Amino acid sequence: MDSIHIQGGKRLEGAIPISGAKNAALTLLPCALLTEDKLTLTNLPRLADVDSFGHLLNMLGVSTKVEGVKPGEFGRCMTLRAGEIASTVAPYDMVRRMRASILVLGPMLARAGESTVSLPGGCAIGDRPIDLHLQALEAMGAEIELAAGYVKATAPKGRIGGGDFSFPVVSVGATENALMAAVLAAGRSQLFNAAREPEIVDLCKLLVAMGGRIEGIGSSHLIIDGVEGLHGCTYAVMPDRIEAGSYACAAGITGGSVDLVGARPEEMLATTNALAQCGLIVEFHEAGIKVTADGGLRPLALSTAPFPGFATDMQAQFMAMLCRADGDSFLEETIFENRYMHVPELRRMGADVDVRGRSAIVRGVPRLTGAQVMATDLRASMSLILAGLAAEGETEVLRVYHLDRGYERLEEKLSAVGATIERRSAG
Ligand code: EPZ
Repeated sequence: MDSIHIQGGKRLEGAIPISGAKNAALTLLPCALLTEDKLTLTNLPRLADVDSFGHLLNMLGVSTKVEGVKPGEFGRCMTLRAGEIASTVAPYDMVRRMRASILVLGPMLARAGESTVSLPGGCAIGDRPIDLHLQALEAMGAEIELAAGYVKATAPKGRIGGGDFSFPVVSVGATENALMAAVLAAGRSQLFNAAREPEIVDLCKLLVAMGGRIEGIGSSHLIIDGVEGLHGCTYAVMPDRIEAGSYACAAGITGGSVDLVGARPEEMLATTNALAQCGLIVEFHEAGIKVTADGGLRPLALSTAPFPGFATDMQAQFMAMLCRADGDSFLEETIFENRYMHVPELRRMGADVDVRGRSAIVRGVPRLTGAQVMATDLRASMSLILAGLAAEGETEVLRVYHLDRGYERLEEKLSAVGATIERRSAG
């Protein structure tokens, strides 16, 4: 397994190109199932999860072709074609390694009238059930059965009729599955309390570009009028607002200045507001967002929330940065029940963090010290990288396969702005 080694203490300075968004790519890829035509996605990030999803789609009968990128460039182009469906089953071995596989449930049901997906099971950050996915599909007329660790959704007459569903809890994935099913339903569907994340907007824009009929895009009330069929198109994946926010924290924790090229301000205002509250200078310009440290970091109180609130996917990264603030910060994780796995590892680097249930007190410390630390999940691993960038001495982050799921060519991007960072393969 690879590890990443960082000599901390370098002030980062320069431009970082922001890649296509992982969490948009993972919901745009299954849209290939919704048409027999060719779907071309550009600006796809080169990430383990994107490759895994491509393999899953291949198992279902989707042919995929990826065009490489020139050295130093980012954003791959993938063409996908689901001429015919070879299988409607997403097997356990695939789903257990990538829970986003559940996002083939809705589109496969819409395309083939049935879909079977292994239940994803929990993960490091929480139980992460799929009950809302299933309730939404049932509201549209699907029959759901659970057996032997799999869920099977069936359209009794071969095609779901559509229907209304109000989400008791905002769910990104359940909203995505419902959208991808409703777009080919025989009638109208309305989703209430739908997720409003920019990745949902990206999905709606792609579905409309394929011929789908969706009103209320960007709002929590979505109205979808099912159509007889969708056609292919070419579509560019939106930039990754979480990657951009993560590198903004790198500027903050190292006292540097980083230009996030390609980041879109309107998609990350809660993050940029929090950065400004910490005392960083945030400048929006036509090519992205420039974030510059301006003296010490101010502590702050943060609660995660669905978009447009402060993203749960930014919590671990802000915690790392706030370890270096002048004072005590308060964090509250309202979305997932176990998203503080990074805390014990940060403590080993000298952080002073107290976790009480879903809340954490982060007491600013004058310094962090390098150590050998273990990544546990994607965003936790990024918080350890950030701490390593600021720590005195060397930090070795183990199990960086977690990192490779969500950060494209991280060492290359950080080295280019002055970090001393390298990946070592273990044997
Ligand atoms: C998506 O996960 C993202 N993943 C997550 O990013 C992100 O943290 C999360 O949305 C919240 O923004 C992808 O897009 C691939 P949810 P998802 O359904 O869809 C509960 C990262 O680091 N819930 O919005 O799984 C659930 O337990 C990853 O990039 C139900 O109770 O999240 C959680 O408490 C991590 N029943 C809350 O809702 C359901 O059926 C929000 O989950 C579904 C969800």
